[in-house]
Amino acid sequence: MQDASAQMALLQFMTCGLETTAIPSSIHCDHLIQAYEGAESDLKRSIVSNKEVFDFLESASKKYGIEFWKPGAGIIHQLVLENYAAPGMLMLGTDSHTPNAGGMGMLAIGVGGADAVDGMSGTPWELKAPKVIGVKLTGQMNGWTTPKDLILHLAGKLTVKGGTGSIIEYFGPGLDNQSCTGLATMANMGAEVGATTSTFPYSNSMREYLHATARGPVAKAADEISKTGFLQADKDAEYDQVIEINLSELEPHINGPFTPDLATPLSKFKQMVQENNWPTKLSAGLIGSCTNSSYQDMSRVESIAQQAKAANREAVVPFMVTPGSELIRATIERDGVQSTLESVGATVLANACGPCIGQWDRREAKNEDNAILTSFNRNFKARNDGNLKTMNFLASPEIVTAMSIAGSMTFNPMTDILPASGNSKELKFEPPHGTFLPTEGFIPGDTTFAPEPTPEPIPETPVQISPSSTRLEILEPFKSHFENPEEAGELPKMQCLMRVRGKCTTDHISAAGPWLKYKGHLSNISENTLMTAVNDEDGKVNSAYDFQEKTTSTIPDIAKRYRERQQPWMIVVDENYGEGSAREHAAMQPRWLGCCVVLGRSLARIHETNIKKQGFVPLTFKNKEDYNKIDAGDQVETVGLKGLFAGDLNTPVSVKVTKKDGSVLDIPVNHTLSVDQLNWVRHGSALNAIAAAAAA
Ligand code: F3S
Repeated sequence: MQDASAQMALLQFMTCGLETTAIPSSIHCDHLIQAYEGAESDLKRSIVSNKEVFDFLESASKKYGIEFWKPGAGIIHQLVLENYAAPGMLMLGTDSHTPNAGGMGMLAIGVGGADAVDGMSGTPWELKAPKVIGVKLTGQMNGWTTPKDLILHLAGKLTVKGGTGSIIEYFGPGLDNQSCTGLATMANMGAEVGATTSTFPYSNSMREYLHATARGPVAKAADEISKTGFLQADKDAEYDQVIEINLSELEPHINGPFTPDLATPLSKFKQMVQENNWPTKLSAGLIGSCTNSSYQDMSRVESIAQQAKAANREAVVPFMVTPGSELIRATIERDGVQSTLESVGATVLANACGPCIGQWDRREAKNEDNAILTSFNRNFKARNDGNLKTMNFLASPEIVTAMSIAGSMTFNPMTDILPASGNSKELKFEPPHGTFLPTEGFIPGDTTFAPEPTPEPIPETPVQISPSSTRLEILEPFKSHFENPEEAGELPKMQCLMRVRGKCTTDHISAAGPWLKYKGHLSNISENTLMTAVNDEDGKVNSAYDFQEKTTSTIPDIAKRYRERQQPWMIVVDENYGEGSAREHAAMQPRWLGCCVVLGRSLARIHETNIKKQGFVPLTFKNKEDYNKIDAGDQVETVGLKGLFAGDLNTPVSVKVTKKDGSVLDIPVNHTLSVDQLNWVRHGSALNAIAAAAAA
């Protein structure tokens, strides 16, 4: 878990009354570190400004025996690759680039906090069986081409949706010379095509990487098991779709702006810049991040910096480096890579996400059109510096470095020449070169950032949350809807709060942006509930009517009044309600405000499960046209849940609607509740059900 998403995951875990996690778990402080002037001062400042969050995460880690990586240790995915990833492992991570660990030949899947709590509490975790896209690699990369270019090219082919619901499995002779960290780069950006994860057969480079990172026994175990046919595709494997890429023909790519699937081969990029009127001047270059900060990346980048230095040149725009981990930082410092980069003007930032997640306190180019090049993985608007006008283009670190030295968006490092000027000599770059692993081995650097391995839980540790905190709040277990959960039946009588029209994603239900700072404070973040949803009755955004006080107000405000009056409520929603992310806040907030039923034309699958986990009930209309028959203020009662709780899952379910004029309707509905899920609703949430089982 990373520090932003870990907050609610841990708060939830705390409610289930377990002494420790059911599986090995770790927390990584990386997202909350702000980048401004350089590693040391940035880290110090961010530790002060996020102290309460870090203190909370550290104390809870101690209590439950979770490995806690302090701010400065590095970025979650790099640390996972260096310390935890193992061939054949299944791992969940509360971050969308968790698939990075697929570079080690495993299944690493990005999930929401509620799913992580499933893992940590020993609850079965479910995933709709994904399709498998086979990517066959032939030929060999050479010169400037890197694994980043492969995935940038594939993103152009598949688009941001092409991998949805699929695992990408790479195979073919083109894999033979790929480094484990290069495979991790490819797997990392599988997230950009929507893939569940990406994976590779166990390889020699994985073995070497395991040995280099002091995990010889894991390599040995993988060697043994791979002899029996595991850790590789079955001989007769069939794929739902096969894409073939000849690496010998692949050229470097630059993707963007604003979407990672707008892929342009380097040779066509100048033309694209001119045709689209993109800025011709580069305004900053950033390399590193979880995507591209391996030793190999850094040593190849060094070879470019050395050429620039020999020609008496340096980056002519701000040029920043985020090492992925303390191991990488310390090793590149020892090997002189860092000093070479600094000698051409690089600023080395903290071992953290920084500019990759909008934590870039960029004081120039505010609100101006400008173009930056990064070796990161995402380039949505405002992703890096909060400026909607910053065009972020993605490329390999080698290309970013060479173009930062040229300062131009139309410079092609493979073919163009930088002319001599002043003290600077003419420069035609040679293709970069580097080594997969450091010849003298890795050094750990500052080990105070790292946790003790497999810490024992210390149950008496007080979890540090200040009662006056605006960012963290102890999560009270949700109350069961029933006085005696063992006698669960129909839900209490509800009032319809509103009918939501059209698209309503998890972003509409729980907005991100400035609200992210309240991720660990349920009552504060609930102030954003459904605030961009459209009310079908008046067509307005964030508008609801309070039938008791006869006033119109915002949706969260009306929902809060219901909560204060202890009036259970429900909402009617349209098609695919809750699409988007696995964000559990989108289910927790309505539940906290007193919502008992979400009744829609259709519901997004993951969100539907999240609703059940939080102990309320998702239903869909049997006849979609019934959507219009329930209005705000109508009284709604469930009919049939009693039979489900009694064990007959085929009991017909309907809702009895008493209209405001007194007329009564019976509307048939569908449910997808399993016996286990009914148990969650019975107890008020999945976590309550776990706590009840633990107490029994
Ligand atoms: Fe961090 Fe960016 Fe990776 S936010 S985890 S460096 S994708």
